[in-house]
Amino acid sequence: MKITVSYSKNDTPSNEELKQLSEKSLSALQTLIDGNGEGNDFLGWVNLPNEISQQEIAKIESIAERLRKCSEVFVVAGIGGSYLGARMVIEALKHNFDTLTNQNTPTILYAGNTMNEDYLADLMEVLDKKDYSLAVISKSGTTTETAVTFRILREHLTKKYGSQEAAKRIVAITDKEKGVLKQIADKEGCDTFVIPDNVGGRFSVLTPVGLLPIAVAGFDIRKILEGAKLQRKEVLGNKDSDMLKYVVARNYLYNKGKSVEIMVNYQPNLVYFSEWWKQLYGESEGKDNKGLFPASVSNTTDLHSMGQYIQEGRRLMFETVLHIENSKKSLPIPTLKENDDKLDYLLNHSLTQINEKAEEGTRLAHLEGGVSQIQLSVERVDEINIGQLIYFFEIACGVSGYVLGVNPFNQPGVENYKKKMFKLLGKE
Ligand code: PA5
Repeated sequence: MKITVSYSKNDTPSNEELKQLSEKSLSALQTLIDGNGEGNDFLGWVNLPNEISQQEIAKIESIAERLRKCSEVFVVAGIGGSYLGARMVIEALKHNFDTLTNQNTPTILYAGNTMNEDYLADLMEVLDKKDYSLAVISKSGTTTETAVTFRILREHLTKKYGSQEAAKRIVAITDKEKGVLKQIADKEGCDTFVIPDNVGGRFSVLTPVGLLPIAVAGFDIRKILEGAKLQRKEVLGNKDSDMLKYVVARNYLYNKGKSVEIMVNYQPNLVYFSEWWKQLYGESEGKDNKGLFPASVSNTTDLHSMGQYIQEGRRLMFETVLHIENSKKSLPIPTLKENDDKLDYLLNHSLTQINEKAEEGTRLAHLEGGVSQIQLSVERVDEINIGQLIYFFEIACGVSGYVLGVNPFNQPGVENYKKKMFKLLGKE
């Protein structure tokens, strides 16, 4: 993984500005490592890749294997940090059209992240006809979206299989004592995993919250943890890491007046990478009237929609481009007898190279339009690199939050809508 930063003409920093921010970022990293900053009771994720036990990994793998055998569909019921990490990894690694190609692996469906009646009714219609199992994931064990979905699914599973078999098809991943979920799961005899007290939802992808669904989807969780471990070794105690370069660049641009950071990818399987990243940064930094607004585009698709605004609209933003060096597959462009579609000029390039030229052209155009670019290059999308990216962006988020002067590990603003909703619903 490698960071390069190209500042647009008006945003170019002086050496002194960069030096000051580098020192501030390094000291924020030290605060995080020493555990003496705000929110320090939520730093369990820093050592997770090294501290997760072999026993826990083996338990995840063995339950996942059992569920894979009895399920055509696996439902992940959770919201926010309780589903986005798993979805990000699964979408990045799976076949783009897996619902039509997968014979031996359950199709992963997501619920508990919406209360839309049509969505849930459609889901139940599908589940009527499929063998399925589910993970219900909620740290608090009380989140309304997930809880109401679980009530519907639990009842459906019980009717479909009887209570004993239903219990074998439910795994609850929750706090050791808070909320009602653990009690229900224990009462019914379901398998459970405990989310450590000191790991918040959006930092929990390397706990069973993320690892169980990823394992059910058939991916190697040991390699993901290995990637995270590698990145942990790389960033802790390294004052020149790419992670710190990213923190410095985004905080410099924020101080310079930018208010939006756009995560950019050039492949559809990374759309959920951006969704995960947006939640991580939005919930961690957006408080005390501060913080970059995290947005995303998936190119070249979005060059034909949001590209216009980024090039010429209000100058609010900079871009962080996730550049993937190699594709997994190759697909030659056919040579035709006649060049009737006038595309022969492309024949010296692979599709990946053409996509890269679009990326390079966009970088130059956006720089000309005053949009600075941070580029993070990754060799390929695989388990090891995804593990590295998870750790990279988690630690950069914690360090950035401290540089910004907020507590990156709470989310007090999320409670407000809940209070108002409960009042409207007449909850005591
Ligand atoms: O990052 C967070 O803490 C939140 O996004 C939570 O993950 C989200 O609100 C879901 O909460 P819970 O897992 O308690 O259902």
